[in-house]
Amino acid sequence: MKYYIVTYGCQMNVHESEKLAAICEKMGYCLAEKREEADLIVFNTCAIREGAEDRVFGNVGALKKLKKQRPSLIVAVCGCATQKESTANWMMKTFPFVDIVIGTFNLANFQHYVNAVKTGRQLELLSEGEIDETLPYKRTSGENAWVNIMQGCNNFCTYCIVPYVRGREKSRQEANILKEIEEIVAEGKYKKITLLGQNVNSYGKDLTPSVSFAQLLQDICAIEGDFVVSFMTSHPKDLTDDVIDVIAKQDKICKDIHLPAQSGNNRILQLMNRRYTREKYLGIIEKIRSKIPNARLTSDFIVGFPTETEDEFLDTMSLVEQVRFDGIFAFMYSPREGTVASKMQDQVPQEIKQRRVNMLLALEKKIQEGKK
Ligand code: SAH
Ligand code: SF4
Ligand code: F3S
Repeated sequence: MKYYIVTYGCQMNVHESEKLAAICEKMGYCLAEKREEADLIVFNTCAIREGAEDRVFGNVGALKKLKKQRPSLIVAVCGCATQKESTANWMMKTFPFVDIVIGTFNLANFQHYVNAVKTGRQLELLSEGEIDETLPYKRTSGENAWVNIMQGCNNFCTYCIVPYVRGREKSRQEANILKEIEEIVAEGKYKKITLLGQNVNSYGKDLTPSVSFAQLLQDICAIEGDFVVSFMTSHPKDLTDDVIDVIAKQDKICKDIHLPAQSGNNRILQLMNRRYTREKYLGIIEKIRSKIPNARLTSDFIVGFPTETEDEFLDTMSLVEQVRFDGIFAFMYSPREGTVASKMQDQVPQEIKQRRVNMLLALEKKIQEGKK
């Protein structure tokens, strides 16, 4: 019996697919080289933008033929897209050959759903879940080991679906994180450890007693061994001086810092509910550059947020020009059902979003070429 997992979205999903892989192997499945050979196919989905969801739907739909050839094939869909009730129901209705539809909170119980398929199609979405500390991972990212330090997000940026599909912030106990990292280091196979969370800077605020992210980094660096620590993603509003100081001081911490700015315009930043201004963002960048001269700075931007004018977009261009990042990702705003921004008047037309994203990417290319 063989399994195959198709993963969409961010590193969090990549890591959760490592958990799914471990569950599949525990059930006695081994990894198939391609989906045509598999007896169990899992789609771990993403909902961040419409394009991400469409890719999922297209690829699930394409399994119809395979399932016809092999009726015993089990098809499962899980993750952020199906955590939305409307999408989960739509999937069940549109794809009668899909056997299991679950969300983000019941992935740890995957074995249960596979076993239950004998009795019929499975659809279950939970609205909340604890972080499972007991499940093993089948690590699949070479010399890099992912370590989840928290899940969920409390920020509710007005464009973003993540808080709706991943729930509120929940930090793992520091002792469990340290133990996991000690084990990873002891294995000797991994050179890099990447800490994962939607907003790692607010790690530990919900623990009693609370632990700061800076403290966690410090304690991780105290673990003996030859490894580097990296983390994603930071939110500019929470990137405090003590975190910058630890990064500067500790040789074990990788100097790549991904700090999504989203926009260079204060009115748009406020509408996005990002809770910092352009000036505050630039201040943090300056602080990072002065304390960590070899920092490698990267960022994310969204163009065409509802009501964004041409001048406001040009503020994003000027921010990018001013900071001269080591790399940026630029996205066209994509309305996500249920978010505040999707209900705003004056959505920006697609052609304008396209032109703006092209302009931003052209600027980025010019900056990178100038650095060569
Ligand atoms: N938690 C991280 C990453 C979130 S998703 C953070 O806060 O930075 C990664 C990126 O996708 C975001 O930084 C944002 O630039 C982009 N993104 C999120 N929602 C989007 C939407 N509705 N439309 C377009 N881009 C979006
Ligand atoms: Fe989404 Fe904002 Fe949370 Fe990032 S911080 S996951 S962009 S709501
Ligand atoms: Fe996508 Fe979910 Fe990550 S929406 S970006 S897979 S948290």
